[in-house]
Amino acid sequence: MGAFYAVLALVTGSVAAAAVAKDISPERKNELRYVLEQDCGSCHGLTLKGGLGSPLLAGKLTDRDATDLASIILDGVPGTPMPPWRPLIQPHEALWLAQILKSGDLGQ
Ligand code: HEC
Repeated sequence: MGAFYAVLALVTGSVAAAAVAKDISPERKNELRYVLEQDCGSCHGLTLKGGLGSPLLAGKLTDRDATDLASIILDGVPGTPMPPWRPLIQPHEALWLAQILKSGDLGQ
């Protein structure tokens, strides 16, 4: 039973990921990739290996939930230099960013 729900969660998770990616136009995806490299990269390192901010490489994020990472992107980490991006990035876009970070497929 537990396994069944785990599989169900996996399947619905990937369907949600596909739905998120579909809601973002190719132009906006390019903009978001640019933000990731230029803005996020200014703290997390141009290759996201870490700098002032922690590394954002897929290998470092395997155990992290994409939704949690998206919340961090939207609201920042209070008391640290990680700023909230809510004014510039929509929730479904933050989730997409979290998913491409976790997949390591930044499309660059
Ligand atoms: C001004 C510097 C700065 C910028 C710009 C910045 N970050 Fe951060 N970020 C940080 C710092 C510092 C931390 C670590 C906070 C802590 O100590 O928990 C962090 C943490 C994170 C984390 C959590 C990592 C983890 O392992 O818990 C994510 C995800 C993240 N940032 C994504 C982004 C994304 C995506 C962008 C661009 C939209 C971005 N950051 C831009 C400084 C920055």
